[in-house]
Amino acid sequence: MTEDVWVFGYGSIIWRPDFPHSEARAATVSGWTRRFWQGSTDHRGVPGAPGRVATLIAEPGAVCWGRAYRTVEREEAIARLDHREKGGYALREVRISFPGGESVDGFVYVATPGNPNWLGEVGADEIAAQIRRSAGPSGTNVEYVMELARALRDMGGDDPHVRELARRVASPRRRRGGEIVDETA
Ligand code: SIN
Repeated sequence: MTEDVWVFGYGSIIWRPDFPHSEARAATVSGWTRRFWQGSTDHRGVPGAPGRVATLIAEPGAVCWGRAYRTVEREEAIARLDHREKGGYALREVRISFPGGESVDGFVYVATPGNPNWLGEVGADEIAAQIRRSAGPSGTNVEYVMELARALRDMGGDDPHVRELARRVASPRRRRGGEIVDETA
């Protein structure tokens, strides 16, 4: 593996790539939607008290925003990411599109049902409650959601699932004219 490859990030890889890359661009993948259905016992939770992190679910017609990276040291980048994403994610090929119409072949880490940390679908109330109480070696689960929401907002890549979770887990930090304004506003 000597050539550079593109890696598409849709969760923590968006704001903390942490591997050698020469280019980073806002991008989309089609036919996939982001859902907080994967458990995390090594980053945003601990064994016995998992946090909830993002995975991609196949959904015809869906478009998921994220950030695509062109690796420079392909083997090093994939080795680092394999280690980091070892809690249930597997590398798979994907077609990555850039605003303007260009597209490239690349890779994405996806956690599918059946992996040991899979949690699956529950209601937004339950997901938000689990996120609020979870933390692990990489930080709080709330921070994961807020960083993701901020990054998507900055790139203009709206995701109603993330926006709704961010609204539910945000701590009211600022007050304006006596009114509480949450940090996602
Ligand atoms: C990703 O960011 O692309 C994978 C999921 C994660 O590590 O949050």
